[in-house]
Amino acid sequence: MAIRDILTVPNPVLKQVSEPVDTVDDELRRLMDDMLETMYAAPGIGLAAIQVGVAKRVIVMDLAGKGEPPAPKYFINPEILETDAETLPYEEGCLSVPEIYDEIARPKRARIRYLDYDGNPVEEWAEDLYAVCVQHEMDHLDGILFIDHLSRLKRERAVKKVQKAKADEAVERTSAEVEKAATRSL
Ligand code: NI
Repeated sequence: MAIRDILTVPNPVLKQVSEPVDTVDDELRRLMDDMLETMYAAPGIGLAAIQVGVAKRVIVMDLAGKGEPPAPKYFINPEILETDAETLPYEEGCLSVPEIYDEIARPKRARIRYLDYDGNPVEEWAEDLYAVCVQHEMDHLDGILFIDHLSRLKRERAVKKVQKAKADEAVERTSAEVEKAATRSL
């Protein structure tokens, strides 16, 4: 397993529509293993393949609470079959839009169909946080980020904030390297 880089806004790859998976094989399982490790390290509760730059309709998730044993879930070619009219407002965040959180109202229940880690078909109702998360991650497969559900002003502000944080981080990294180089030359 390996930790992969998570793409952040405004990387245009995140706007790509992902392709369905033809075959569930060891190569795909390696991708899902890497995605899970990357998600745990971030840390996050859900990750779509496009967030590590792979345009395949694949999602990993773990909604286990603190102190609970890990409960990884894998979704290949997920589809939403139906949703409830009732919505659940939830404060969402995204590893591709770090440090930004805002409330989105999505259907509280969704009937979903997908292939699991071994390629077996599963059909079930997702509820509450599970429903929210699966809908958030499935949006990624269609190039949609949670900030796309916000007003244009909020969205632009979020992207700018992420870009600035990234630039600041790069400056910090550079000065840390300069310091290290200086230490070595002493
Ligand atoms: Ni996300």
